[in-house]
Amino acid sequence: MVSDVILAALNEQIKVEAESSQIYLAMASWAEVKGFEGIATFMFKQSDEERAHMLKLIKFVNQRGGHAKVSALEEPKLDYTSFRTLFRQLYEHEVKVSECINVLVDISLSEKDYATHNFLQWYVSEQIEEEATAKVILDKIDLIGDDKGGLYMFDNDMKNFTSSGHNIVQ
Ligand code: FEO
Repeated sequence: MVSDVILAALNEQIKVEAESSQIYLAMASWAEVKGFEGIATFMFKQSDEERAHMLKLIKFVNQRGGHAKVSALEEPKLDYTSFRTLFRQLYEHEVKVSECINVLVDISLSEKDYATHNFLQWYVSEQIEEEATAKVILDKIDLIGDDKGGLYMFDNDMKNFTSSGHNIVQ
Protein backbone atom coordinates (compact mmCIF):
# COMPACT_ATOMS: atom_id res chain seq x y z
CA MET A 1 0.00 0.00 0.00
CA VAL A 2 1.36 3.43 -0.90
CA SER A 3 1.09 6.33 1.56
CA ASP A 4 -0.78 9.50 0.62
CA VAL A 5 2.54 11.31 0.32
CA ILE A 6 3.94 8.72 -2.09
CA LEU A 7 0.67 8.55 -4.02
CA ALA A 8 0.64 12.33 -4.55
CA ALA A 9 4.30 12.30 -5.62
CA LEU A 10 3.82 9.39 -8.06
CA ASN A 11 0.71 11.00 -9.52
CA GLU A 12 2.73 14.17 -10.07
CA GLN A 13 5.34 12.13 -11.95
CA ILE A 14 2.61 10.54 -14.09
CA LYS A 15 1.75 14.07 -15.20
CA VAL A 16 5.42 14.90 -15.84
CA GLU A 17 5.79 11.84 -18.11
CA ALA A 18 2.53 12.61 -19.92
CA GLU A 19 3.66 16.20 -20.52
CA SER A 20 7.03 14.92 -21.74
CA SER A 21 5.17 12.77 -24.27
CA GLN A 22 3.21 15.83 -25.43
CA ILE A 23 6.36 17.94 -25.72
CA TYR A 24 8.08 15.37 -27.96
CA LEU A 25 4.91 14.90 -29.97
CA ALA A 26 4.84 18.65 -30.63
CA MET A 27 8.52 18.51 -31.63
CA ALA A 28 7.80 15.53 -33.93
CA SER A 29 4.98 17.37 -35.65
CA TRP A 30 7.16 20.46 -36.20
CA ALA A 31 10.00 18.34 -37.60
CA GLU A 32 7.65 16.47 -39.91
CA VAL A 33 6.19 19.68 -41.31
CA LYS A 34 9.71 21.12 -41.81
CA GLY A 35 10.77 18.02 -43.76
CA PHE A 36 13.17 16.64 -41.12
CA GLU A 37 12.08 13.06 -41.60
CA GLY A 38 14.70 11.48 -39.33
CA ILE A 39 14.22 13.98 -36.51
CA ALA A 40 10.45 13.47 -36.72
CA THR A 41 10.90 9.67 -36.51
CA PHE A 42 13.12 10.09 -33.45
CA MET A 43 10.69 12.48 -31.75
CA PHE A 44 7.65 10.28 -32.41
CA LYS A 45 9.55 7.35 -30.84
CA GLN A 46 10.60 9.57 -27.93
CA SER A 47 6.98 10.59 -27.39
CA ASP A 48 5.90 6.91 -27.37
CA GLU A 49 8.61 6.11 -24.83
CA GLU A 50 7.43 8.84 -22.51
CA ARG A 51 3.91 7.48 -22.74
CA ALA A 52 5.34 4.05 -21.81
CA HIS A 53 7.07 5.67 -18.79
CA MET A 54 3.72 7.13 -17.77
CA LEU A 55 1.90 3.79 -18.19
CA LYS A 56 4.53 1.98 -16.14
CA LEU A 57 3.86 4.43 -13.27
CA ILE A 58 0.09 4.08 -13.62
CA LYS A 59 0.35 0.27 -13.40
CA PHE A 60 2.64 0.48 -10.39
CA VAL A 61 0.42 2.91 -8.47
CA ASN A 62 -2.69 0.81 -9.10
CA GLN A 63 -0.90 -2.44 -8.18
CA ARG A 64 0.22 -0.87 -4.91
CA GLY A 65 -3.33 -0.07 -3.86
CA GLY A 66 -3.34 3.56 -4.99
CA HIS A 67 -5.39 5.15 -7.75
CA ALA A 68 -3.35 6.62 -10.58
CA LYS A 69 -4.62 10.01 -11.64
CA VAL A 70 -4.90 11.17 -15.23
CA SER A 71 -4.46 14.95 -15.09
CA ALA A 72 -5.06 17.80 -17.51
CA LEU A 73 -1.85 18.70 -19.34
CA GLU A 74 -0.14 21.98 -20.16
CA GLU A 75 0.19 22.83 -23.84
CA PRO A 76 3.90 22.51 -24.73
CA LYS A 77 5.55 25.94 -24.89
CA LEU A 78 8.43 25.51 -27.27
CA ASP A 79 10.88 27.64 -29.19
CA TYR A 80 10.76 26.37 -32.77
CA THR A 81 13.48 28.68 -34.12
CA SER A 82 15.57 25.75 -35.39
CA PHE A 83 16.23 22.04 -34.90
CA ARG A 84 19.15 23.11 -32.68
CA THR A 85 16.87 24.95 -30.26
CA LEU A 86 14.57 21.92 -30.31
CA PHE A 87 17.30 19.54 -29.16
CA ARG A 88 18.59 22.04 -26.62
CA GLN A 89 15.08 22.09 -25.13
CA LEU A 90 14.92 18.29 -25.21
CA TYR A 91 18.14 18.10 -23.22
CA GLU A 92 17.02 20.73 -20.72
CA HIS A 93 13.68 18.98 -20.31
CA GLU A 94 15.36 15.65 -19.57
CA VAL A 95 17.59 17.32 -16.94
CA LYS A 96 14.40 18.64 -15.29
CA VAL A 97 12.79 15.18 -15.40
CA SER A 98 15.90 13.71 -13.77
CA GLU A 99 15.54 16.26 -10.96
CA CYS A 100 11.90 15.19 -10.50
CA ILE A 101 12.97 11.53 -10.28
CA ASN A 102 15.65 12.42 -7.72
CA VAL A 103 13.08 14.23 -5.58
CA LEU A 104 10.80 11.16 -5.82
CA VAL A 105 13.64 8.88 -4.73
CA ASP A 106 14.25 11.18 -1.74
CA ILE A 107 10.56 11.06 -0.81
CA SER A 108 10.48 7.25 -1.08
CA LEU A 109 13.42 7.04 1.34
CA SER A 110 11.97 9.51 3.83
CA GLU A 111 8.68 7.56 3.72
CA LYS A 112 10.62 4.28 4.11
CA ASP A 113 8.78 2.94 1.04
CA TYR A 114 11.40 0.51 -0.24
CA ALA A 115 9.15 -1.02 -2.89
CA THR A 116 8.70 2.38 -4.51
CA HIS A 117 12.38 3.11 -4.03
CA ASN A 118 13.25 -0.11 -5.84
CA PHE A 119 10.74 0.60 -8.62
CA LEU A 120 12.22 4.07 -9.15
CA GLN A 121 15.70 2.70 -9.85
CA TRP A 122 14.56 1.86 -13.38
CA TYR A 123 13.75 5.56 -13.90
CA VAL A 124 17.10 6.62 -12.45
CA SER A 125 18.90 4.46 -15.05
CA GLU A 126 16.58 5.59 -17.83
CA GLN A 127 17.31 9.25 -17.08
CA ILE A 128 21.07 8.64 -17.21
CA GLU A 129 20.62 7.15 -20.69
CA GLU A 130 18.26 9.86 -21.90
CA GLU A 131 20.50 12.69 -20.77
CA ALA A 132 23.51 10.97 -22.36
CA THR A 133 21.65 10.50 -25.65
CA ALA A 134 20.58 14.14 -25.71
CA LYS A 135 24.21 15.18 -25.08
CA VAL A 136 25.48 13.00 -27.94
CA ILE A 137 22.93 14.58 -30.25
CA LEU A 138 23.89 18.11 -29.18
CA ASP A 139 27.56 17.31 -29.80
CA LYS A 140 26.70 16.08 -33.29
CA ILE A 141 24.76 19.27 -33.98
CA ASP A 142 27.78 21.34 -32.89
CA LEU A 143 29.94 19.38 -35.32
CA ILE A 144 27.63 20.06 -38.26
CA GLY A 145 27.68 23.84 -37.83
CA ASP A 146 26.02 25.35 -40.90
CA ASP A 147 26.99 22.54 -43.25
CA LYS A 148 23.92 21.56 -45.33
CA GLY A 149 25.35 18.13 -46.26
CA GLY A 150 26.04 17.50 -42.59
CA LEU A 151 22.47 18.39 -41.73
CA TYR A 152 21.17 15.95 -44.33
CA MET A 153 23.31 13.18 -42.84
CA PHE A 154 22.34 14.14 -39.30
CA ASP A 155 18.65 13.96 -40.15
CA ASN A 156 19.21 10.58 -41.77
CA ASP A 157 21.14 9.33 -38.73
CA MET A 158 18.33 10.34 -36.40
CA LYS A 159 16.11 7.62 -37.83
CA ASN A 160 18.40 5.05 -36.20
CA PHE A 161 18.65 6.72 -32.83
CA THR A 162 16.54 5.26 -30.09
CA SER A 163 15.40 7.65 -27.43
CA SER A 164 16.77 5.58 -24.55
CA GLY A 165 20.24 5.60 -26.03
CA HIS A 166 20.46 2.02 -27.28
CA ASN A 167 21.81 1.10 -30.71
CA ILE A 168 23.08 4.56 -31.41
CA VAL A 169 24.54 4.78 -34.89
CA GLN A 170 27.59 7.04 -34.55
FE1 FEO B 1 10.45 9.77 -19.00
FE2 FEO B 1 12.48 11.26 -20.62
O1 FEO B 1 11.58 11.17 -19.06
